[in-house]
Amino acid sequence: MKRIIFSVLLLSASLLAKAEDGHQLWLRSHQAAPVKVVTTAKNSAVLATARQELQQGWQGNPGATVTLTLRKDKAIKYDGYRISPTGVQASTEAGLLYGVFELLRRQQTGQTAQADLSNPSYEYRLLNHWDNPDGSVERGYAGQSIFWRKDSSFVTTNRDKVRWREYARANASVGINGAVINNVNASPKILSAEYLARVKAVADELRPYGVKTYLAVKFSSPALLGGLKTSDPLDPAVVKWWQSKAKEIYRQIPDFGGFLVKASSEGQPGPQDYGRTHADGANMLADALKPYHGLVMWRAFVYSPTDKDRAKQAYNEFVPLDGKFRDNVIVQVKNGPVDFQPREPFSPLFGAMKKTSVMPEFQITQEYLGHSTDLAFLSTMWEECLQSDTYQAGPGSTVARCTDGSVYPQKHTAMAGVANTGLDRNWTGHDFAQANWYAFGRLAWNNQMKSAQIADEWLKLTFAGATGSAASATTDSNWNTNFLAPVKQMMLDSREAVLNYSMPLGLHHIMSATRGHYGPGPWWAPPKMRADWTPGYYHQASENGVGFDRTKAGSDAVSQYHEPLASQLNNPNTCPDEYLLWFNHLPWDFKMKSGNTLWNELCAHYDKGVQQARQFQRIWDQTQPYVDAERFAAVQNKLRSQSGNAVQWKDACLLYFQQFSHMPIPATVEPPM
Ligand code: GCU
Repeated sequence: MKRIIFSVLLLSASLLAKAEDGHQLWLRSHQAAPVKVVTTAKNSAVLATARQELQQGWQGNPGATVTLTLRKDKAIKYDGYRISPTGVQASTEAGLLYGVFELLRRQQTGQTAQADLSNPSYEYRLLNHWDNPDGSVERGYAGQSIFWRKDSSFVTTNRDKVRWREYARANASVGINGAVINNVNASPKILSAEYLARVKAVADELRPYGVKTYLAVKFSSPALLGGLKTSDPLDPAVVKWWQSKAKEIYRQIPDFGGFLVKASSEGQPGPQDYGRTHADGANMLADALKPYHGLVMWRAFVYSPTDKDRAKQAYNEFVPLDGKFRDNVIVQVKNGPVDFQPREPFSPLFGAMKKTSVMPEFQITQEYLGHSTDLAFLSTMWEECLQSDTYQAGPGSTVARCTDGSVYPQKHTAMAGVANTGLDRNWTGHDFAQANWYAFGRLAWNNQMKSAQIADEWLKLTFAGATGSAASATTDSNWNTNFLAPVKQMMLDSREAVLNYSMPLGLHHIMSATRGHYGPGPWWAPPKMRADWTPGYYHQASENGVGFDRTKAGSDAVSQYHEPLASQLNNPNTCPDEYLLWFNHLPWDFKMKSGNTLWNELCAHYDKGVQQARQFQRIWDQTQPYVDAERFAAVQNKLRSQSGNAVQWKDACLLYFQQFSHMPIPATVEPPM
């Protein structure tokens, strides 16, 4: 008996040890040196967190004194901070916490903690969880929700609390200060008393890490939950219902962040059902939240079956409303005009709404980029969007500058990312998908950061020291040459590789719909459901050529962009190759800038993607001495599946398109750059 108990204990200890590897994210525990923390601030939960982090993670001089100073300083914006090797100064407690994490990050990545000032690019840096009250996660590939449970028992267990704190800590370490904890396709019951009690329980755990809790709300809640006859935003009873709901929420959660709303979009109810505008709907909710300093994030992801070119609808609906929103409304715009495709041009709404707070929404979960099977480091995609020039206020009016207050005097600035977290031990399904959560936070803090630096930091924090001490690994030249350099390059190439084997040259929305947007499906269309779901709608392939004509001769979506961009995109000879088939319909023998025909270039991209996926396998195989066995095997398995997916994409798409091009698949073509 004793022996059995002993072996069970041993087994669970070894299971626990194994499970350790993925779940710690980039916050690995190391042997900390003693440190003395002195502070001028009043004791508070956030300050206690900052102090504890220093004590747990200090890698500097043993016995050093670190001073946390809470003081106003004109140069410090929002939750920004000044750091020096001996202290942090900030004007908010959250700022002190972020400064502490920066100090520790520099120590752990082997950088010197020189004196520095850092201000966040955006005031609000939020995760949007598409988590349903039944515990499922829309477009989630990492298990069930960390917030909601199927059984709806509403009992908050200790395990829940620990997990929510770990989650909040990871967010705080990269500066994320808000979480919308339910799906944008919101259930009205989220606003019922029993669900609000659980929201409060979550908020209580996130608060000590400076993370505020928000909810996505269904616009028709007054009717569906409140039993009113209507949810018309101008109806006095509806206005009153939202006011008292706001009061009820703030009574329990005094620092509640606000509402995220998907309305009059994809079949969701909204103000348009009552002949009202987005502004009418958003302003009514904004007024209800105003007394408590709450925000409304109103999504501009709208499209309807009648629209001829879905890419144009958001701009058409929202630009006429510019300047009509209350100052506590932020219009939340997806990075591209269609829907989180592997590559989209930036949404023309950025920079076009000059008198409204506008925030970018990125998708961290890989709905269209291979779920949690394919390795795709998305930082490069977001960097590309943020650095795109809108020309709206002259050259240099990048998406980043048009949304962070540099170009227009926005009342509020924010950035949101659709989260990729779930109950999986490693949080995100793929160990490398953790890097996307990390990267989102880093870019929301500093929208000028380079992906190479983000990858470098993440790899050092996540893998250095996995087989020894972190500090020594980062200065070990073998580790740097044999692990860091090749794996970083793999990350930086990874999103382009996915594009190459799935949707190169501006192709989009040709994935399988029946497999949850996974794998190829250029042939797919459900019978007669909606105008934009006919076979080939998005790629328009025929014997005449391929691509969606959005030039002036086509849908004229190009005219939603500012000159000189509009003219550049309108002409296939000046349109960048990456967006070629997004904006142009071209013959199969169209001569590309490389000299290849369009068909040959398409074939070369698909082939290159397959080669890249295979190369990733070879790179990873070499890293075995530097990675713990569990993560090495997990990533190796994922990369093997990814290679298979790449071949499937290539074969399926080329065979499908070949029935129109009638051209042979070349044995060898010069691969495009
Ligand atoms: C995509 C996604 C949906 C989601 C929607 C949204 O269309 O497939 O699951 O609800 O985006 O952003 O609202």
